[in-house]
Amino acid sequence: MEISASSKQVVPFYAVIVAAGSGTRLGGETPKQYQKISGKAILRHTLERFLSSPGLQEIRVVINPDHRTLYNEAVQGLDLPEPISGGKDRNNSVFNGINSFSNPKNNDTILIHDAARPLVSADEIIALVQKAAETGAATLASPVTDTQKYDGGAYVDRGNLWAIQTPQGFHYDLLLRAHQAAGETNASCTDDTGLVAATGKEIAFVPGSRQNIKITTPEDMDMAQKLLGPSPQTDIRTGFGYDVHAFTEGNVVRLCGVDIPHTHKLKGHSDADVGLHALTDALLGTIGAGDIGTYFPPSAPQWKDVDSAVFLQKAVEMIREKGGTINNVDLTLICEAPKIGPHREAMQQKIAQICGLETDRIGLKATTNEKLGFLGREEGIAAHAVATVRFTPC
Ligand code: CTP
Ligand code: MG
Repeated sequence: MEISASSKQVVPFYAVIVAAGSGTRLGGETPKQYQKISGKAILRHTLERFLSSPGLQEIRVVINPDHRTLYNEAVQGLDLPEPISGGKDRNNSVFNGINSFSNPKNNDTILIHDAARPLVSADEIIALVQKAAETGAATLASPVTDTQKYDGGAYVDRGNLWAIQTPQGFHYDLLLRAHQAAGETNASCTDDTGLVAATGKEIAFVPGSRQNIKITTPEDMDMAQKLLGPSPQTDIRTGFGYDVHAFTEGNVVRLCGVDIPHTHKLKGHSDADVGLHALTDALLGTIGAGDIGTYFPPSAPQWKDVDSAVFLQKAVEMIREKGGTINNVDLTLICEAPKIGPHREAMQQKIAQICGLETDRIGLKATTNEKLGFLGREEGIAAHAVATVRFTPC
Protein backbone atom coordinates (compact mmCIF):
# COMPACT_ATOMS: atom_id res chain seq x y z
CA MET A 1 0.00 0.00 0.00
CA GLU A 2 1.20 3.48 -0.71
CA ILE A 3 -0.69 5.18 2.04
CA SER A 4 1.43 7.05 4.50
CA ALA A 5 -0.09 7.44 7.96
CA SER A 6 1.69 10.72 8.55
CA SER A 7 0.32 12.42 5.42
CA LYS A 8 -3.33 11.92 6.46
CA GLN A 9 -5.40 13.75 8.97
CA VAL A 10 -6.75 11.88 12.03
CA VAL A 11 -10.45 10.95 11.73
CA PRO A 12 -12.28 9.76 14.86
CA PHE A 13 -13.83 6.28 14.75
CA TYR A 14 -15.42 3.53 16.85
CA ALA A 15 -14.46 -0.13 16.51
CA VAL A 16 -16.12 -3.50 17.07
CA ILE A 17 -13.85 -6.54 17.06
CA VAL A 18 -15.86 -9.73 16.58
CA ALA A 19 -14.31 -12.65 18.41
CA ALA A 20 -17.29 -14.83 19.33
CA GLY A 21 -16.75 -17.63 16.81
CA SER A 22 -15.62 -21.15 17.58
CA GLY A 23 -12.90 -21.58 14.94
CA THR A 24 -14.14 -24.99 13.77
CA ARG A 25 -12.33 -24.93 10.43
CA LEU A 26 -8.97 -24.34 12.12
CA GLY A 27 -9.61 -26.92 14.83
CA GLY A 28 -7.49 -27.38 17.96
CA GLU A 29 -8.49 -27.39 21.61
CA THR A 30 -8.55 -23.61 21.92
CA PRO A 31 -10.78 -21.43 19.69
CA LYS A 32 -8.56 -19.82 17.06
CA GLN A 33 -8.74 -16.23 18.35
CA TYR A 34 -7.17 -17.40 21.63
CA GLN A 35 -4.42 -19.53 20.06
CA LYS A 36 -1.00 -17.92 20.40
CA ILE A 37 1.49 -16.65 17.85
CA SER A 38 4.85 -15.44 19.22
CA GLY A 39 3.53 -15.87 22.75
CA LYS A 40 0.42 -13.68 22.25
CA ALA A 41 -3.19 -14.63 21.53
CA ILE A 42 -4.30 -13.81 17.97
CA LEU A 43 -7.02 -11.58 19.46
CA ARG A 44 -4.37 -9.60 21.33
CA HIS A 45 -2.30 -9.06 18.18
CA THR A 46 -5.46 -7.72 16.51
CA LEU A 47 -6.43 -5.52 19.45
CA GLU A 48 -2.97 -4.01 19.78
CA ARG A 49 -3.16 -2.82 16.16
CA PHE A 50 -6.44 -1.04 16.88
CA LEU A 51 -5.54 0.30 20.31
CA SER A 52 -2.54 2.12 18.87
CA SER A 53 -4.57 3.62 15.98
CA PRO A 54 -4.89 7.39 16.05
CA GLY A 55 -8.54 8.45 16.12
CA LEU A 56 -9.89 5.45 18.05
CA GLN A 57 -12.66 6.74 20.35
CA GLU A 58 -14.10 3.54 21.81
CA ILE A 59 -13.66 -0.15 21.16
CA ARG A 60 -15.88 -3.16 21.91
CA VAL A 61 -14.78 -6.77 21.79
CA VAL A 62 -17.58 -9.27 21.16
CA ILE A 63 -16.92 -12.70 22.67
CA ASN A 64 -18.61 -15.97 23.54
CA PRO A 65 -19.16 -15.74 27.34
CA ASP A 66 -18.01 -19.37 27.60
CA HIS A 67 -14.54 -18.15 26.55
CA ARG A 68 -14.33 -15.57 29.35
CA THR A 69 -11.30 -17.10 31.05
CA LEU A 70 -9.40 -17.33 27.77
CA TYR A 71 -10.41 -13.75 27.00
CA ASN A 72 -9.22 -12.44 30.37
CA GLU A 73 -5.86 -14.09 29.88
CA ALA A 74 -5.51 -12.82 26.30
CA VAL A 75 -6.19 -9.15 27.09
CA GLN A 76 -4.39 -8.88 30.44
CA GLY A 77 -3.02 -5.37 30.91
CA LEU A 78 -4.90 -3.81 27.97
CA ASP A 79 -7.24 -0.92 28.65
CA LEU A 80 -10.60 -2.31 27.48
CA PRO A 81 -14.25 -2.03 28.57
CA GLU A 82 -16.29 -5.13 29.53
CA PRO A 83 -16.63 -7.44 26.51
CA ILE A 84 -20.02 -7.84 24.78
CA SER A 85 -21.71 -11.23 24.38
CA GLY A 86 -21.82 -12.57 20.82
CA GLY A 87 -24.74 -14.09 18.92
CA LYS A 88 -25.48 -17.26 17.01
CA ASP A 89 -23.71 -16.07 13.86
CA ARG A 90 -21.31 -13.29 12.91
CA ASN A 91 -24.09 -10.86 11.95
CA ASN A 92 -25.68 -11.23 15.36
CA SER A 93 -22.34 -10.70 17.06
CA VAL A 94 -21.76 -7.51 15.08
CA PHE A 95 -25.29 -6.33 15.89
CA ASN A 96 -24.69 -6.79 19.63
CA GLY A 97 -21.41 -4.92 19.30
CA ILE A 98 -22.83 -1.91 17.47
CA ASN A 99 -25.73 -1.65 19.89
CA SER A 100 -23.40 -1.47 22.87
CA PHE A 101 -22.13 2.08 22.25
CA SER A 102 -23.90 4.51 24.52
CA ASN A 103 -24.31 7.59 22.38
CA PRO A 104 -23.29 7.21 18.76
CA LYS A 105 -24.34 9.89 16.30
CA ASN A 106 -25.72 8.96 12.89
CA ASN A 107 -22.64 10.03 10.98
CA ASP A 108 -20.09 8.59 13.39
CA THR A 109 -17.79 6.15 11.66
CA ILE A 110 -17.79 2.64 13.02
CA LEU A 111 -15.35 -0.08 12.00
CA ILE A 112 -16.10 -3.80 12.16
CA HIS A 113 -13.12 -6.14 12.20
CA ASP A 114 -12.56 -9.88 12.55
CA ALA A 115 -10.43 -10.89 15.52
CA ALA A 116 -9.08 -13.55 13.17
CA ARG A 117 -7.30 -10.92 11.04
CA PRO A 118 -4.32 -9.94 13.17
CA LEU A 119 -2.23 -8.77 10.21
CA VAL A 120 -4.10 -5.60 9.33
CA SER A 121 -1.68 -2.67 9.27
CA ALA A 122 -1.94 0.74 10.94
CA ASP A 123 -1.92 2.44 7.54
CA GLU A 124 -4.76 0.25 6.29
CA ILE A 125 -6.88 1.09 9.34
CA ILE A 126 -6.28 4.81 8.84
CA ALA A 127 -7.04 4.67 5.09
CA LEU A 128 -10.23 2.71 5.69
CA VAL A 129 -11.45 5.08 8.40
CA GLN A 130 -10.99 8.02 6.05
CA LYS A 131 -12.81 6.36 3.16
CA ALA A 132 -15.67 5.19 5.40
CA ALA A 133 -16.07 8.63 6.96
CA GLU A 134 -16.14 10.20 3.50
CA THR A 135 -18.44 7.73 1.70
CA GLY A 136 -20.51 6.12 4.48
CA ALA A 137 -19.57 2.54 3.54
CA ALA A 138 -16.12 1.17 2.72
CA THR A 139 -14.10 -2.00 3.05
CA LEU A 140 -10.55 -3.16 2.64
CA ALA A 141 -10.41 -5.46 -0.36
CA SER A 142 -7.67 -6.99 -2.48
CA PRO A 143 -7.87 -7.55 -6.24
CA VAL A 144 -8.08 -11.24 -7.11
CA THR A 145 -4.89 -12.37 -8.86
CA ASP A 146 -5.56 -16.05 -9.63
CA THR A 147 -7.67 -17.00 -12.66
CA GLN A 148 -11.21 -17.77 -11.47
CA LYS A 149 -13.53 -20.52 -12.72
CA TYR A 150 -16.73 -22.14 -11.43
CA ASP A 151 -16.31 -25.82 -10.64
CA GLY A 152 -17.58 -27.50 -13.85
CA GLY A 153 -18.67 -24.14 -15.26
CA ALA A 154 -17.56 -20.88 -16.83
CA TYR A 155 -14.47 -18.78 -16.31
CA VAL A 156 -15.00 -15.49 -14.50
CA ASP A 157 -13.34 -12.23 -15.51
CA ARG A 158 -10.98 -11.70 -12.60
CA GLY A 159 -10.38 -8.09 -13.68
CA ASN A 160 -13.59 -7.16 -11.86
CA LEU A 161 -13.15 -9.42 -8.85
CA TRP A 162 -12.16 -8.32 -5.38
CA ALA A 163 -11.65 -10.42 -2.26
CA ILE A 164 -13.37 -8.53 0.55
CA GLN A 165 -11.55 -8.23 3.87
CA THR A 166 -12.09 -6.41 7.13
CA PRO A 167 -12.01 -3.85 8.64
CA GLN A 168 -15.18 -2.53 7.06
CA GLY A 169 -16.35 0.95 8.01
CA PHE A 170 -19.77 2.60 7.92
CA HIS A 171 -21.71 5.57 9.13
CA TYR A 172 -23.45 4.31 12.24
CA ASP A 173 -27.07 4.85 11.12
CA LEU A 174 -26.47 3.12 7.79
CA LEU A 175 -25.02 0.03 9.42
CA LEU A 176 -27.68 -0.12 12.10
CA ARG A 177 -30.50 0.18 9.53
CA ALA A 178 -28.92 -2.54 7.36
CA HIS A 179 -28.79 -4.91 10.33
CA GLN A 180 -32.32 -4.07 11.38
CA ALA A 181 -33.55 -4.67 7.82
CA ALA A 182 -31.75 -8.00 7.61
CA GLY A 183 -33.30 -9.02 10.91
CA GLU A 184 -32.47 -12.31 12.55
CA THR A 185 -33.12 -14.33 9.40
CA ASN A 186 -30.54 -13.10 6.92
CA ALA A 187 -28.13 -15.98 6.67
CA SER A 188 -26.89 -15.36 3.14
CA CYS A 189 -24.55 -12.42 3.89
CA THR A 190 -21.34 -13.36 5.62
CA ASP A 191 -20.27 -9.80 6.28
CA ASP A 192 -21.52 -6.24 6.82
CA THR A 193 -20.84 -4.97 3.31
CA GLY A 194 -23.33 -7.61 2.12
CA LEU A 195 -26.01 -6.31 4.49
CA VAL A 196 -25.35 -2.66 3.65
CA ALA A 197 -25.18 -3.31 -0.13
CA ALA A 198 -28.60 -5.01 0.15
CA THR A 199 -30.05 -1.63 1.22
CA GLY A 200 -28.87 -0.15 -2.09
CA LYS A 201 -25.79 1.62 -0.76
CA GLU A 202 -22.62 1.37 -2.82
CA ILE A 203 -19.52 0.05 -1.05
CA ALA A 204 -16.21 1.84 -1.65
CA PHE A 205 -13.06 -0.28 -1.84
CA VAL A 206 -9.75 0.56 -0.21
CA PRO A 207 -6.99 -1.66 -1.59
CA GLY A 208 -5.73 -3.86 1.21
CA SER A 209 -2.63 -6.02 1.42
CA ARG A 210 -3.01 -9.71 0.67
CA GLN A 211 -1.18 -10.27 3.93
CA ASN A 212 -4.35 -9.25 5.79
CA ILE A 213 -5.52 -12.86 5.84
CA LYS A 214 -8.38 -14.20 7.92
CA ILE A 215 -6.91 -17.13 9.80
CA THR A 216 -9.37 -19.87 8.90
CA THR A 217 -7.44 -23.09 8.15
CA PRO A 218 -4.24 -24.66 9.55
CA GLU A 219 -2.44 -23.44 6.42
CA ASP A 220 -3.50 -19.84 7.20
CA MET A 221 -2.17 -20.31 10.72
CA ASP A 222 1.25 -21.40 9.37
CA MET A 223 1.34 -18.34 7.16
CA ALA A 224 0.33 -15.99 10.00
CA GLN A 225 3.02 -17.52 12.20
CA LYS A 226 5.63 -16.69 9.57
CA LEU A 227 4.32 -13.16 9.10
CA LEU A 228 3.85 -12.33 12.78
CA GLY A 229 6.84 -14.22 14.13
CA PRO A 230 9.95 -12.39 15.34
CA SER A 231 11.77 -10.62 12.52
CA PRO A 232 15.50 -11.27 12.21
CA GLN A 233 15.94 -7.52 11.93
CA THR A 234 14.38 -6.82 15.30
CA ASP A 235 16.53 -4.54 17.41
CA ILE A 236 16.37 -5.78 21.00
CA ARG A 237 17.59 -3.46 23.76
CA THR A 238 17.98 -3.83 27.51
CA GLY A 239 17.83 -1.01 30.05
CA PHE A 240 18.77 -1.00 33.72
CA GLY A 241 17.48 1.12 36.61
CA TYR A 242 18.33 1.49 40.29
CA ASP A 243 16.77 3.62 43.01
CA VAL A 244 16.80 3.94 46.78
CA HIS A 245 14.62 5.92 49.21
CA ALA A 246 15.14 6.42 52.94
CA PHE A 247 12.48 5.76 55.56
CA THR A 248 10.90 8.61 57.47
CA GLU A 249 8.01 8.97 59.90
CA GLY A 250 4.76 7.53 58.57
CA ASN A 251 2.72 4.35 58.38
CA VAL A 252 2.38 3.38 54.70
CA VAL A 253 4.98 2.64 51.99
CA ARG A 254 4.02 2.72 48.34
CA LEU A 255 5.81 0.06 46.31
CA CYS A 256 5.07 -0.62 42.62
CA GLY A 257 1.80 1.30 42.92
CA VAL A 258 0.55 -0.61 45.99
CA ASP A 259 0.14 0.95 49.43
CA ILE A 260 1.45 -1.32 52.19
CA PRO A 261 0.94 -0.53 55.89
CA HIS A 262 4.33 -0.24 57.61
CA THR A 263 6.09 1.32 60.58
CA HIS A 264 7.51 4.09 58.34
CA LYS A 265 6.95 5.66 54.96
CA LEU A 266 9.49 6.36 52.24
CA LYS A 267 10.87 9.85 51.97
CA GLY A 268 10.71 11.60 48.59
CA HIS A 269 9.38 14.53 46.61
CA SER A 270 6.83 12.35 44.80
CA ASP A 271 5.11 9.33 46.40
CA ALA A 272 8.67 7.83 46.69
CA ASP A 273 7.68 4.63 44.89
CA VAL A 274 11.18 3.24 44.61
CA GLY A 275 10.05 0.25 42.48
CA LEU A 276 8.34 2.33 39.79
CA HIS A 277 11.27 4.76 39.77
CA ALA A 278 13.80 1.98 39.08
CA LEU A 279 11.52 0.59 36.39
CA THR A 280 11.02 4.00 34.75
CA ASP A 281 14.80 4.44 34.58
CA ALA A 282 15.24 0.95 33.10
CA LEU A 283 12.74 1.79 30.33
CA LEU A 284 14.29 5.19 29.64
CA GLY A 285 17.63 3.37 29.43
CA THR A 286 16.45 1.46 26.33
CA ILE A 287 16.06 4.68 24.36
CA GLY A 288 19.02 6.61 25.74
CA ALA A 289 16.63 9.15 27.19
CA GLY A 290 18.32 10.17 30.44
CA ASP A 291 16.62 9.34 33.71
CA ILE A 292 13.45 10.12 35.63
CA GLY A 293 14.90 13.40 36.96
CA THR A 294 15.35 14.67 33.39
CA TYR A 295 11.57 14.82 32.94
CA PHE A 296 10.33 15.16 36.51
CA PRO A 297 12.91 17.21 38.43
CA PRO A 298 12.43 16.99 42.23
CA SER A 299 12.76 20.78 42.32
CA ALA A 300 9.49 21.21 40.35
CA PRO A 301 6.49 21.77 42.65
CA GLN A 302 4.00 20.02 40.32
CA TRP A 303 5.59 16.62 41.04
CA LYS A 304 5.18 16.97 44.82
CA ASP A 305 3.44 13.83 46.18
CA VAL A 306 2.55 12.78 42.64
CA ASP A 307 1.66 9.15 41.85
CA SER A 308 4.80 7.63 40.26
CA ALA A 309 2.56 5.83 37.76
CA VAL A 310 2.70 9.15 35.89
CA PHE A 311 6.49 8.77 35.47
CA LEU A 312 6.23 5.19 34.28
CA GLN A 313 3.42 6.09 31.87
CA LYS A 314 5.62 8.79 30.33
CA ALA A 315 8.49 6.32 29.75
CA VAL A 316 6.04 3.81 28.18
CA GLU A 317 4.71 6.51 25.85
CA MET A 318 8.22 7.62 24.85
CA ILE A 319 9.09 4.02 23.93
CA ARG A 320 5.87 3.63 21.90
CA GLU A 321 6.58 6.86 20.04
CA LYS A 322 9.89 5.38 18.96
CA GLY A 323 8.14 2.25 17.69
CA GLY A 324 9.22 0.07 20.62
CA THR A 325 7.28 -2.79 22.20
CA ILE A 326 8.14 -3.74 25.75
CA ASN A 327 9.00 -7.42 25.82
CA ASN A 328 9.38 -7.94 29.55
CA VAL A 329 10.49 -6.21 32.74
CA ASP A 330 12.04 -7.61 35.90
CA LEU A 331 12.35 -5.96 39.31
CA THR A 332 13.97 -6.81 42.62
CA LEU A 333 13.01 -4.92 45.77
CA ILE A 334 15.54 -5.02 48.63
CA CYS A 335 14.25 -4.51 52.17
CA GLU A 336 14.09 -6.29 55.50
CA ALA A 337 10.43 -5.24 55.85
CA PRO A 338 7.60 -4.96 54.89
CA LYS A 339 6.97 -8.39 53.40
CA ILE A 340 6.47 -8.13 49.64
CA GLY A 341 5.08 -11.64 48.95
CA PRO A 342 1.44 -10.91 49.90
CA HIS A 343 1.41 -7.87 47.58
CA ARG A 344 3.34 -9.29 44.64
CA GLU A 345 0.30 -10.03 42.47
CA ALA A 346 -1.27 -6.62 43.06
CA MET A 347 2.07 -5.02 42.09
CA GLN A 348 2.28 -7.12 38.91
CA GLN A 349 -1.28 -6.11 38.00
CA LYS A 350 -0.49 -2.46 38.51
CA ILE A 351 2.61 -2.59 36.33
CA ALA A 352 0.72 -4.69 33.75
CA GLN A 353 -1.92 -2.00 33.52
CA ILE A 354 0.52 0.87 33.08
CA CYS A 355 2.87 -0.92 30.66
CA GLY A 356 0.11 -2.75 28.70
CA LEU A 357 1.75 -6.12 29.41
CA GLU A 358 0.60 -9.56 30.49
CA THR A 359 1.62 -10.39 34.06
CA ASP A 360 3.87 -13.25 32.96
CA ARG A 361 6.10 -10.61 31.36
CA ILE A 362 6.58 -8.83 34.69
CA GLY A 363 9.14 -10.29 37.08
CA LEU A 364 8.73 -9.12 40.66
CA LYS A 365 11.03 -10.37 43.36
CA ALA A 366 12.13 -9.26 46.79
CA THR A 367 15.05 -10.07 49.01
CA THR A 368 16.31 -8.93 52.38
CA ASN A 369 19.85 -7.57 52.68
CA GLU A 370 20.67 -10.12 55.38
CA LYS A 371 20.73 -7.27 57.92
CA LEU A 372 23.87 -5.87 56.24
CA GLY A 373 24.51 -2.20 55.53
CA PHE A 374 21.93 0.61 55.38
CA LEU A 375 19.24 -1.66 53.93
CA GLY A 376 19.95 -4.26 56.60
CA ARG A 377 19.61 -1.57 59.30
CA GLU A 378 16.18 -0.76 57.81
CA GLU A 379 17.10 2.77 56.87
CA GLY A 380 15.34 2.52 53.51
CA ILE A 381 14.35 0.40 50.50
CA ALA A 382 16.24 -0.12 47.22
CA ALA A 383 15.04 -1.43 43.87
CA HIS A 384 16.79 -2.80 40.78
CA ALA A 385 14.98 -3.17 37.46
CA VAL A 386 15.75 -4.37 33.95
CA ALA A 387 13.59 -3.97 30.87
CA THR A 388 13.82 -5.52 27.42
CA VAL A 389 12.26 -3.63 24.53
CA ARG A 390 11.93 -4.66 20.87
CA PHE A 391 12.27 -2.03 18.15
CA THR A 392 11.44 -2.90 14.56
CA PRO A 393 13.43 -0.82 12.10
CA CYS A 394 11.15 0.81 9.49
N1 CTP B 1 -17.60 -14.50 14.84
C1 CTP B 1 -18.37 -13.95 15.85
N2 CTP B 1 -19.56 -14.54 16.21
C2 CTP B 1 -19.99 -15.65 15.58
C3 CTP B 1 -19.24 -16.20 14.54
C4 CTP B 1 -18.03 -15.60 14.18
O1 CTP B 1 -17.98 -12.96 16.46
N3 CTP B 1 -21.14 -16.18 15.98
C5 CTP B 1 -16.31 -13.87 14.50
C6 CTP B 1 -15.12 -14.84 14.62
O2 CTP B 1 -14.65 -14.92 15.97
C7 CTP B 1 -14.10 -14.25 13.66
C8 CTP B 1 -14.96 -13.52 12.64
O3 CTP B 1 -16.29 -13.46 13.17
O4 CTP B 1 -13.22 -13.35 14.28
C9 CTP B 1 -14.93 -14.20 11.27
O5 CTP B 1 -15.54 -15.49 11.36
P1 CTP B 1 -14.81 -16.87 11.01
O6 CTP B 1 -13.49 -16.64 10.41
O7 CTP B 1 -15.81 -17.71 10.30
O8 CTP B 1 -14.51 -17.47 12.48
P2 CTP B 1 -15.18 -18.70 13.22
O9 CTP B 1 -16.65 -18.65 13.03
O10 CTP B 1 -14.68 -18.67 14.61
O11 CTP B 1 -14.52 -19.94 12.46
P3 CTP B 1 -15.28 -21.20 11.80
O12 CTP B 1 -16.30 -20.63 10.85
O13 CTP B 1 -14.20 -21.97 11.16
O14 CTP B 1 -15.94 -21.91 12.96
MG1 MG C 1 -17.55 -18.85 10.99
